[in-house]
Amino acid sequence: MRTNLSSIAARQNVLPLHPQRAQATELSPAAAAHQALLHRRYGKDAIYEATLHRYLAGRPKREIDFFINPRRFDLMHSVIGDRLAQRPLRVLNAGSGPFALEFYAALHDATIDSFDIDEQLVALHKSLTIRNVITPCAFRVMDVASYEPHEVYDVVLVNDVFYSKHVDLFAVIATFASAVAPGGVLYFDIQDQRAGPIWRLLGKGNATRRYDLSAVRAALEALGFKVEAVAPALGIKGGGVDAVARRFLWRWLGIANNFAFAATR
Ligand SMILES: C[S@@+](CC[C@H](N)C(=O)[O-])C[C@H]1O[C@@H](n2cnc3c(N)ncnc32)[C@H](O)[C@@H]1O
Repeated sequence: MRTNLSSIAARQNVLPLHPQRAQATELSPAAAAHQALLHRRYGKDAIYEATLHRYLAGRPKREIDFFINPRRFDLMHSVIGDRLAQRPLRVLNAGSGPFALEFYAALHDATIDSFDIDEQLVALHKSLTIRNVITPCAFRVMDVASYEPHEVYDVVLVNDVFYSKHVDLFAVIATFASAVAPGGVLYFDIQDQRAGPIWRLLGKGNATRRYDLSAVRAALEALGFKVEAVAPALGIKGGGVDAVARRFLWRWLGIANNFAFAATR
């Protein structure tokens, strides 16, 4: 019944009445004890990983494993960590993917609305929520291009989404800006146009979209936002050749492939 309600709401672009949020607290004492036992025996990381592979089966393993990495949110934390620690906190997670943010980020007690264009995430969301693996969040299926804010948020996140050729930052930025509460922050990351030739030389990133950083800054300022940070991403692998190369390019040539923006209103 819940799934039906969710999918109908998603089709109609109507935010469901947070059924998944309710589910997390609806476990019977016996079910909750069972969940606790599973978490103790296997660890939440193993359960998260296994659930992703189960519900996203059919996708390349590499694509799924990309999300199983707490380091992916290091940059976000270094830029807006203080904001994420505030309570109460209302978060919009646009292009949520398989709820890695809701798994890795310390967002307990935050109110989170997430959406993504990917319908396969509905069942994954349900499973992760019922097993109490992720911070509870409401989820709906939706294209960023159709998003219309009906409420405002302290933090609006668009993480790792603007790389898609099918998403145009300039077409949607005003909508996301209007979802930010006064005093709130808009956080997203993009690939720098200037790094394109080098990355193409290295055989990477041909299929992704790149932006002129100063044009993005100007667009934010035109919307009345103050750009608080434009921070380079220096890798999510935690070391190795990739990290060394990225640090070298940034320190010595001032080049980074992607940058995180944080802007406040
Ligand atoms: C690399 S993943 C990032 C997921 C998540 N933000 C994170 O950081 O873990 C990109 C996500 O953007 C979603 N996406 C791509 N185009 C979209 C669109 N037009 N509307 C909504 N989501 C979209 C994809 O389905 C995918 O889940």
